[in-house]
Amino acid sequence: MGTGHPDADLMFVGEAPGFHEDKQGAPFVGQAGKVLERLLGTIGLTRPQVYIANVLKCRPPGNRDPQPDEIEACEGHLFAQVELIRPKVICTLGNFATKLLSGQPHGITRVHGRPQPRRIGGVDLVLYPIFHPAAALYTPAMMTTLEGDFARLPELLAGPVEVPVPAARVPVAVGAPPPPVAEPEREYAQLGLF
Ligand code: URA
Repeated sequence: MGTGHPDADLMFVGEAPGFHEDKQGAPFVGQAGKVLERLLGTIGLTRPQVYIANVLKCRPPGNRDPQPDEIEACEGHLFAQVELIRPKVICTLGNFATKLLSGQPHGITRVHGRPQPRRIGGVDLVLYPIFHPAAALYTPAMMTTLEGDFARLPELLAGPVEVPVPAARVPVAVGAPPPPVAEPEREYAQLGLF
């Protein structure tokens, strides 16, 4: 389901458990988790100080992308987690968490590093999308981008949370194929992590 501090100000939401997460029953305990822990270290935080969850609560067969019906089946659990933890900042890792929690279809390449005030699970918070840490395993240069986006987290955690202006709800097919994207984005979008 999730692990971490029950009163965490900072919550991370990834995509779905992988092989190791499935075996150990905890999110981000494999290679991507190591990257996440390293990034946390760059801002002086450790795992027990934050809360970590995923959009899907079960491992998709063969690590394939989450399907819309799976996201729908699991989203109530994620919203309940947000309601219980009441974080100040939710850092979404990659496309699936970002699209689900922002309610917008924009891909992570476009929105990473841009804080957005939101009300989620009845909690006013800052939604802060960043690339999925696994992206740095495929593209080492991505670590610099991730570190740059991470560097902004202390300021967001220290700052006030703006009360979001409610927007008209736009239906978003989170697991549907993304709209056509500009050249540099396309390659990343195909990996499903971006
Ligand atoms: N990737 C995710 O999105 N979540 C995990 O728990 C592990 C890898």
